Parts: sequence; C-alpha cells; structure tokens
Amino acid sequence: MVSRLVYVLNGPNLNLLGQRQPEIYGRETLADVEALCRAEGGRLGLGVRFHQSNREYEIIDWIHEARGDAAGIAINPAGFTHTSVSILDALIAFDGPVIEVHISNVHRREPFRHQSYVSGRAEGVIAGFGTQGYVFALQRLATLTEARS
Ligand code: DQA
Repeated sequence: MVSRLVYVLNGPNLNLLGQRQPEIYGRETLADVEALCRAEGGRLGLGVRFHQSNREYEIIDWIHEARGDAAGIAINPAGFTHTSVSILDALIAFDGPVIEVHISNVHRREPFRHQSYVSGRAEGVIAGFGTQGYVFALQRLATLTEARS
C-alpha cells in the first residue's frame, strides 16, 4: 500500500532545539523530533517529509510543493506564527488538513505570542505538550486524512 504523505514543517530557530532556552523548549534536538515523527509516521502508515528553515520563502515553497503531493501538513511556524500573512496565504492555498504545533504553551508566554496568523486556517492547534505535540499532530492528520480518502 502506498502510504499517505504528510509534511512536517518547522520555522526559524528550531534548528537550535535542545540548545536554545531548554527550560522552555526542552533538551531534545530537531533530529530527535524528526526521528520521533518518522517512527510515529511508520506506525500510522504515513510517509513523512520533514523540513526546517530560517527563511520564510522556503517554508512557503514547501507548502506549495505539498499542494501537489501531500495529504496534510503539520507546521510549527515558530516566530513566523505571529508575523506571517504569507505563510497563512500559502496554507489557505493548500486543500488538506493543517495542524499547528507549538512546543511551548504560547498562551502562558508574552502577549505577542498569543496571536497566530496560522490558527484561523488550522484544523487544530497543539501547544505546550513539548515535542510530543508533533506525535499528536501526526495522529490527528492520520485520522483526518483517513476520513477524506
Ligand atoms: C514556538 C513558539 C513561538 O512563539 C516561538 O517563536 C518559537 C517556537 C514553539 O514551538 O513553542 O520559535 O513555535
């Protein structure tokens, strides 16, 4: 059986996961998160395309690419969550389900982190569950894409 493909996209500074503010984001690295997603994807029968970039246009280009071949997107837009109309527009142009993920509980942090451009487009938002949030996002995408296929 050909597995359904999902994209897991990560925004700026997440390449520093494990080193940057570990009291907020934990000690796991982005490579650990990728391994976690691949393991969970394997269990769920989902192919996982995993990317991180510090450049807004690259994230937009991956969302455009996903239009052609992905069933769903899990995205942690990181700082772009709170600033990027362009990432929102790209996600609106994608037809499948979108799950927004934040490692930290953004609602317990500074007020500027309470606003998300992406949430209005997302089927669901996961925040404050650490890197386990990515697992929940993949589980939800598996359910949502199964219902569509
Ligand atoms: C984050 C929360 C954002 O506010 C922040 O800019 C990040 C990471 C999170 O995963 O908790 O870089 O998206």
